[in-house]
Amino acid sequence: MRTDTPQTIYRKDYTPPSFWVNTVEMGFDLDPQATHVATRMTLTRNSASRSKSLVLYGENLELVQLRANGKPLTKRAYTLAHGTLEIPNLPDQVTLEIETITHPELNTTLMGLYVSNGNFFTQCEAEGFRKITFFPDRPDVMAKYTVMLRADKETYPVLLSNGNLVEQGELGDGRHYAVWEDPFKKPSYLFALVAGKLVCQEETFALRSGREVLLQVWVEEGNLDKTQHAMESLKNSIRWDEERFGLELDLDRFMIVAVGDFNMGAMENKGLNIFNTKYVLANPRIATDTDYANIEAVVGHEYFHNWTGNRVTCRDWFQLSLKEGLTVFRDQEFSADMIGTDSGRAVKRIEDVRVLRQAQFPEDAGPMAHPVRPDSYVEINNFYTVTVYEKGAEVVRMYQTLLGREGFRKGMDLYFQRHDGCAVECDDFRAAMADANGRDLSQFERWYSQAGTPRVKVETRYDSDTQTYDITLTQSCAPTPGQPKKLPFHIPVAVGLLDSRGRDMPLHLKGDAEGGSAPTTMVLELTAEKQTFRFTGVTEQPVPSILRNFSAPVVLEADYSDEDLAFLMAHDSDAFNRWEAGQRLATRRLLTLVEAVQNGASLEEADAGDGMLANAFRATLNDESLDPAFRELALTLPSEAVLAEQMDVVDPQAIHAARQYMRRKLASALRLDWQVAYQSNRTPGTYSPDAVSAGKRALKNLALSYLAELDTDEVHVLMQAQNDGANNMTDRVAALSALIHTQAPGKANALEKFYADFENEALVVDKWFSLQATARTTDVAAVRALMRHPAFTLKNPNRARSLIFSFCNGNPAQFHAEDGSGYAFWAEQVIALNAINPQVAARLARTLDRWRKYTPALQAKMRAALQQVAGAKTLSKDVLEVVTKSLAN
Ligand code: TRP
Ligand code: ZN
Repeated sequence: MRTDTPQTIYRKDYTPPSFWVNTVEMGFDLDPQATHVATRMTLTRNSASRSKSLVLYGENLELVQLRANGKPLTKRAYTLAHGTLEIPNLPDQVTLEIETITHPELNTTLMGLYVSNGNFFTQCEAEGFRKITFFPDRPDVMAKYTVMLRADKETYPVLLSNGNLVEQGELGDGRHYAVWEDPFKKPSYLFALVAGKLVCQEETFALRSGREVLLQVWVEEGNLDKTQHAMESLKNSIRWDEERFGLELDLDRFMIVAVGDFNMGAMENKGLNIFNTKYVLANPRIATDTDYANIEAVVGHEYFHNWTGNRVTCRDWFQLSLKEGLTVFRDQEFSADMIGTDSGRAVKRIEDVRVLRQAQFPEDAGPMAHPVRPDSYVEINNFYTVTVYEKGAEVVRMYQTLLGREGFRKGMDLYFQRHDGCAVECDDFRAAMADANGRDLSQFERWYSQAGTPRVKVETRYDSDTQTYDITLTQSCAPTPGQPKKLPFHIPVAVGLLDSRGRDMPLHLKGDAEGGSAPTTMVLELTAEKQTFRFTGVTEQPVPSILRNFSAPVVLEADYSDEDLAFLMAHDSDAFNRWEAGQRLATRRLLTLVEAVQNGASLEEADAGDGMLANAFRATLNDESLDPAFRELALTLPSEAVLAEQMDVVDPQAIHAARQYMRRKLASALRLDWQVAYQSNRTPGTYSPDAVSAGKRALKNLALSYLAELDTDEVHVLMQAQNDGANNMTDRVAALSALIHTQAPGKANALEKFYADFENEALVVDKWFSLQATARTTDVAAVRALMRHPAFTLKNPNRARSLIFSFCNGNPAQFHAEDGSGYAFWAEQVIALNAINPQVAARLARTLDRWRKYTPALQAKMRAALQQVAGAKTLSKDVLEVVTKSLAN
């Protein structure tokens, strides 16, 4: 915790380290109150560095001993201030020995070495290693590690660290030890240890090369019945990386460990991935289809980091997207390939784009907007963002769109050829893509350096005399903090043209060579501010399908008529744009209704006689040629958050009222269709989380949630029956969440029973809290009451997220209550969390980012809440950075 003004770190200030570290030997005497850490490292001066002193970082450490080449260093031989230990006058080759003490049990930040449910865990990314020992804790310093763990054998029977187990034995006193050696050089952020009472599911697995590897999933004893899916996901990940990218697991042993207290999703420590339990534990009783899919994605993500992140790592933290954007892209492709079908891939694509629009577009338009490769930060933990991750993945995806799958693969191969074992920059990845394909990608660099979401305006002109069709694209990008003017981006825009019967027309671009079979989708490369693309041989007025498969992370402005949108929704061969057309149509209607609410007009009148959306939705719902999973996405209205983004001045109550009105209207207009869909998408028999079954359940449960809007006795019976008879968590949660939005007589009982059935399953208790946090009737007072429940604690991030984050981010109509009570609650919780876990507190602090977008009355109350937090006595730099930037002009 700091009280001095936090320092801003700039990308342009990068300097190479003054020393390289060759080897690191560590000895841990694990004790929850005071753990002794002895570190011996060998260093070599970096001749390319101009600074003479060795710089080590350390935080919250007791320094016991410091020796250079065997000789203790006196206090005059070094300086130690503000977490930086500087030693001048060292020889070019030196062995440093450092003894430190840390207090794991008191460590509520969950960074460095900490205790969770009696067991030891570490989290070192980004700068947690410095909470374990003094070290040049920066990703461009890579070393080989040997680690000895010592601990009481009965309390901590399992001792794990990176790499291979080379020795273990007894120490007397009831203590034992284990020695681990990691054969690969790694940056300190990939260090990990785990110690405690854990058990594992293990398996040997044959790589494509024939080499056998040991795979383990470690959990607490009671969770051994929930590891199978993670193990399957791990094996699928290993296979996929071999097949798609020719990348093999480079270790003989690969471990996944689940921990209940964790700040983020999971961590890719070399050979010893540590996971939030949420992304490991699953069985049909406790996990939903979404949980199963998330586990597969996160297991894949962390595994894929072994090459993209670990073998090739980041030179500095500004390059974070080098590993995160690329690895998210890889996990997205993995999940898509696991579904296998074209329509399954489209479903996955739609889900990913939804996340981007719901979370990243707002970030790009707010006070925390930053480029994919930021230029500065105060606290690096605040830059593990949707921009770095999800927009970063879109940037990587654009290479593949521009170069093709094969070209992309060539670029990947060259990237590893050039940089294996190195710490590099985003520019190195771009250079590998360009050089492997003989392409000039210099303008593409702007995707890394410019923040903000580009807008692309489409104008079209058909000339029947010359049978030509012009598509004119104009790009722009609004200013973001520190970037008033933007230069044009290199934007791949995938387009198709539909004829009057809805079929794809063959495409000929003027000037392109004739001959060969004409494609039906073409990637136009928009590089100037404004460009016209002329198609020839266009025999009739087409309906354009622009930005197919969401080929670039931009906002597309196209003035489609309602009829065009309904037409595309019914016919586009590109499933993404088919979905998109429906969303556009729904958004248009919803924004009209929002205006009506604001003008005090009647919604019924504003909507009178308009059956277009309902008809289009009905046609989609009943189209048996479409996957249920796709239909579920197509029939889900844009979220309140996405609608808010479309408005200049956000009015959460009006948005909520309009959207609810539309849901009720669709519920009654399509009532029989929903009932049929409900019945025909049941999945009787043994539960399976596969994409087809999950899709059916999703559509069936969407039907249930629409029907619940009718709140009839008949629907109450349906919900109650599903709640009582469900053989899996997906159906159970769906029934309960539908129930609690109705006046059904059984709803209170159902909630109570749910808790009683699962009170020993932490992840399900989280669901119980978040269901209630997001219920339409839950106001601030109800959330405060839930906080007094014995199962609630702010100290566990999952639990805090399940109630507090769910309410503040997922229940906009209640959170933005006109009296400002939601904001006061938010301020209180940010301040309370700040004292426990700054990283988690800073995430919650982000909730009020976009306060300037709201109605003046709400703005004033939001600003007051932000000022209250900013004025709090002791603030972490994490929270301070967020609230300061939010309040800045
Ligand atoms: N590198 C981790 C991931 O892929 C992110 C992460 C996990 C992390 N835990 C963290 C980052 C703690 C900062 C702090 O996806
Ligand atoms: Zn990652």
